[in-house]
Amino acid sequence: MMIIAGNWKMNMDRASASALVKTLSAEIKPLTAHLDMIVFPPAVLIDTAINASPSSALAVGGQDCHFNANGAHTGDISAAMLVDAGCQWVLVGHSERRSDHGETNDIVAAKAEAALSAGLKVMICVGETLAERESGKANDVVAAQVLGSLPQDLPSDRFALAYEPVWAIGTGKVASPEDVDDMHNHLRAVLIGRNPDYAAVDILYGGSVKPDNAAGLLALANVGGALVGGASLKAEDFLAIANAAPHS
Ligand code: PGA
Repeated sequence: MMIIAGNWKMNMDRASASALVKTLSAEIKPLTAHLDMIVFPPAVLIDTAINASPSSALAVGGQDCHFNANGAHTGDISAAMLVDAGCQWVLVGHSERRSDHGETNDIVAAKAEAALSAGLKVMICVGETLAERESGKANDVVAAQVLGSLPQDLPSDRFALAYEPVWAIGTGKVASPEDVDDMHNHLRAVLIGRNPDYAAVDILYGGSVKPDNAAGLLALANVGGALVGGASLKAEDFLAIANAAPHS
């Protein structure tokens, strides 16, 4: 099933989170027949989001987790804590985690492993920088990130991949449908090369997805959804993006 996910990043408060989730929950029933809808609030707003979504049609996920199950890791949260809070998903390897916190592929793979052990589904993020794209290295960089960030023996029904070119995140510069098509076809081949079971794993596109560009991106053969940052903070925009997804 195609996935439309909202990454709130370090935004919102209890009142705005509750209002947003209530509006989404009231509107998404018809959409969830053909879409998985997920929001990724900041950790302290997970409880608010879950309480505001009584139908559970809207899944909730954490934006990150530690690779250890518990212990002396001040400021971190574990995958089991996310499960305990009611989460079904966690994002790992977002480019802002990779750049702000120095997360390597090995760390991302360890986090994904911890999340799986705790019972979460993982959305593993990859994407090249502008310099890497301009020097013609985008395909190689992203393939290396995928191969390095996926834990061994990752079951195909426990994860999704999100391709988010760093230069398109929060910049308003969306990748062209041609570039997204090329990259997603490449990523499909990389996934299948790793494991033939990965032929149907959703590969989401992220990076300045908006209501006016979503339909063109979501119609591409190997685009299995969208990971939406800025536009996921407004119910109207997030719903318009979900409504732009094909029904198949
Ligand atoms: P954006 O962020 O939609 O604001 O570009 C996407 C993301 O980083 O997940």
